[in-house]
Amino acid sequence: MRLLSDGINEVILTTVSSDGRPNASPMGIILKEGKARLRVYRGSHTLSNILEVPYAVAHITYDPLLFVICSLSDPEEWAGWKTVEGINLPLLDADARLYLRCSEKSSSSSSVVFDVEVIEDEVLGHPRAYNRGFSVLVEACILATRYRVFKDESLVERVMG
Ligand SMILES: Cc1cc2nc3c(=O)[nH]c(=O)nc-3n(C[C@H](O)[C@H](O)[C@H](O)COP(=O)(O)O)c2cc1C
Repeated sequence: MRLLSDGINEVILTTVSSDGRPNASPMGIILKEGKARLRVYRGSHTLSNILEVPYAVAHITYDPLLFVICSLSDPEEWAGWKTVEGINLPLLDADARLYLRCSEKSSSSSSVVFDVEVIEDEVLGHPRAYNRGFSVLVEACILATRYRVFKDESLVERVMG
């Protein structure tokens, strides 16, 4: 599948509520055997938005600040909106965007899994060399989002250590 690799693809996913409020959060698109899926944990705006409006935009970006901002809150500025299949979706600046239609595949007490279909994609950025600091930052963001839910101090120590 163009722009996604096998395994987990860490993106910034934008979604919208039924009353038009945009949201942006880091999410992992899981690509396995040609199928793309999202596992969204309960309690997030992302989940309630996709259940209300089953579309999303996956932003491929290496902007560290965007990962930090979207892990802890939401961006102050949006790059615009784009209408796809009659749905107005919020945009951020990124190297590439994938416009996704989501359909619920399964659900459990902790999460909902969606099959995602790429309706359209666009490449805006340019290739760049791997920077290992980016991976460290993404790991720290994952720990930070877990800390917000579980309030486990050992997660803070892992970020600092
Ligand atoms: C790199 C990264 C990947 C993440 N992947 C997922 C994911 O696949 N599913 C999920 O439910 N949460 C994931 N999270 C956690 C959410 O981003 C986090 O819970 C976020 O606060 C949800 O915000 P929201 O309530 O605005 O949707 C990830 C966090 C990071 C930093």
